[in-house]
Amino acid sequence: MTQRSTVILGTGSYAPERVVTNEELSKTVDTSDEWIHTRSGIRERRIAGPGETTSDMGAAAARRALEAAGLTAADIDLLVVATVTPDLVMPAAACLIQTKLGVPSTAACFDLNAACSGFVYALDTACAMLTSGRYRRALVIGAEKFSSIVDWQDRTTCVLFGDGAGAVVLGTTEQPGVGLLGTKLGAFGESAELLYVPAGGSNEPATAASIAARRHCVKMKGKEVFKLAVRVMDEAARDILEQHHVRADQISLVIPHQANLRIIEAISEYLELPMERFFVNVDRYGNTSAASIPIALDEARRSGRIKTGDLTLLVAFGAGLTYGSALIRW
Ligand code: COA
Repeated sequence: MTQRSTVILGTGSYAPERVVTNEELSKTVDTSDEWIHTRSGIRERRIAGPGETTSDMGAAAARRALEAAGLTAADIDLLVVATVTPDLVMPAAACLIQTKLGVPSTAACFDLNAACSGFVYALDTACAMLTSGRYRRALVIGAEKFSSIVDWQDRTTCVLFGDGAGAVVLGTTEQPGVGLLGTKLGAFGESAELLYVPAGGSNEPATAASIAARRHCVKMKGKEVFKLAVRVMDEAARDILEQHHVRADQISLVIPHQANLRIIEAISEYLELPMERFFVNVDRYGNTSAASIPIALDEARRSGRIKTGDLTLLVAFGAGLTYGSALIRW
């Protein structure tokens, strides 16, 4: 039997118009451009407009990905959205995006929550469903309105995050050695409380008291997350390279989750791969969670940093704590 593999047919991304600079944030919380930039590499982030939702941003990114692939919504039979900030608790953002795009009612549509690793998880899930032969063309979207769960009074977290969306259209090929060569996923559930939203779920439904205590906003132990992120991303990158007998220097471009420039620099040092081989846009968007890798992937593609034959490594970590890596031959 011929082996099917998954290929990326098109990429797209969307960033809200409103740019919020460090300078602007320093007017509402006790911080400075200097502090934020030295600790995180972030200069500015995009924040969704009033009434602009995760599904609006996801649909906008998906339209661009479909256009790049030369396909229409009618061609899609699988729609997976990675997000921790869906428009509603239910139904899934995927169903809202389905309607906005006009994806047929015969398509499977669902959300997946693996926080900032969500896009790599969704890529792996869609890949398994496509290569099974039961689905033909997938839209995989990472979309977040992270500003909706940030505590804008907490300077230790609010300066780090932003909103946006990225998408890919996936299909299959029987050509050997191209496409998604492999993925490595995992999680450290025991560290869940290093980065979480305490209230608003079924454990602690939103009440006037929980809202007043800002327990529906993100809480993070930044230092611990930082250390784990560096170790876990380095291991996830090494594991997938080893699994596929690839040396780090054979990778043309690493697209890491964009959380903090210092994390990316540490991984560059550990892998002994120069920073020129890492795609970085955290300065312009901050951490957009599940949207970060697909936005970066789209920008890398459109700016000509990925060419046919190149090997690209995706590597992510996020709340859970989850991690994931993926190897792609273009
Ligand atoms: N502006 C000014 N000062 C700030 C600040 C801000 N926005 N946020 C925190 N501070 C202060 C702290 O209160 C602390 O003051 P203190 O020493 O008087 O207590 C000081 O700066 C140092 O804080 P610390 O948390 O030790 O800084 P850090 O060097 O660890 O950097 C992070 C903080 C959040 C940038 C860093 O820990 C980080 O990036 N962690 C990973 C976060 C991440 O990637 N999360 C997403 C995972 S997907």
